[in-house]
Amino acid sequence: METIIEKIDPDHPDPAVIGRAGEILRLGGLVAFPTETVYGLGGDALNPEASEKIYGAKGRPSDNPLIVHIADREALEGIVKVIPPKALALADAFWPGPLTMIFEKNGRVPLATTGGLDTVAVRMPGHAAARELIRQSTGYIAAPSANVSGRPSPTKAEHVIEDLGGRVEMILDGGPVGIGIESTIVDFSGQAPTILRPGYISGRMMEQVIGPVRLDGGLIAEDSSVRPKAPGMKYRHYAPKAELTIVEGEENRVVEAVNGWMREKEAAGLRCGVIATDETAGLYRTGTVMSMGSRRDEESIARHLFDVLRRFDSLDVACIYSESFHTPRMGQAIMNRLLKAAGHRVVRVK
Ligand code: TXA
Ligand code: MG
Repeated sequence: METIIEKIDPDHPDPAVIGRAGEILRLGGLVAFPTETVYGLGGDALNPEASEKIYGAKGRPSDNPLIVHIADREALEGIVKVIPPKALALADAFWPGPLTMIFEKNGRVPLATTGGLDTVAVRMPGHAAARELIRQSTGYIAAPSANVSGRPSPTKAEHVIEDLGGRVEMILDGGPVGIGIESTIVDFSGQAPTILRPGYISGRMMEQVIGPVRLDGGLIAEDSSVRPKAPGMKYRHYAPKAELTIVEGEENRVVEAVNGWMREKEAAGLRCGVIATDETAGLYRTGTVMSMGSRRDEESIARHLFDVLRRFDSLDVACIYSESFHTPRMGQAIMNRLLKAAGHRVVRVK
């Protein structure tokens, strides 16, 4: 299929373009669009055939549920059984924004959209174009990240075109996204609110509003014996083609160790790369060095993570060493993605 690519102003999108995109969605087609977190691959969440098309275009296992995107509070009431008071409090504090909440679904949401589960994940994005597109659709857009299953989530339209060009009706190009990692997911379908995926909204930010919030055991387990509750978190993800190793330790020890390993790899005829920061990039002596951003600005690190992983894929390197990024607020979210990309390969230097 030929994919229509439309450039839009992310803050003031042309209503005529969004109108055409909305019509594609209402007719059961697929439109990739920018949100404040990452680009989404949208289809009508109330139409099981559209959800099946999403799974097909991404090559995603159909037991991995989709997030339903809404533009107003009434839309939430239309698809869930109950809204717990603490979920309402989080909606007041963080919607529209990078927060997804899981509820018991009602009969309007097809099982094809929720991967067969009787719960539904719902998010109200803050991005102007995303919000306008939802209004021009049936009011419910199912949208996973707009990457081929297993690849890093797309933070630019170029990433979406690379993965989904020819597989969707339309791609809305609103330029690079603001946050760069996917939304925080909190489950309200069980006894206590539980974080299933860390993101821009940290556990502490939510605890200031609703008190204690748990972290899903599957996220912190060192081995894979505990299954994460979000089906998508169990899959190997974001993995670059090169062997990625995270190096933990004091900054100058990390730089020294990586420089040593890089020399050995080069002597063996292997091209390798380093994921560094603005502060350290100049200290690496050899190989392809890419900076994630400044340690003084953790949001810049989150914003560049997936783009850096994708750029290494186009470079044909055999191995990548990455610094670790335990930054104050988003460190948990950043390290969750990086650890998955590395298949949990971590080396500590002393
Ligand atoms: O920021 C985001 O959330 C982006 C943008 C496009 O909104 N979307 C996104 O969707 O990251 P996706 O499909 O790539 O990730 C959704 C995650 C998956 O790990 C999935 O298993 C989990 O949410 N999930 C969805 N519905 C669920 C449910 N009912 N119960 C448990 N986990 C669920
Ligand atoms: Mg995804």
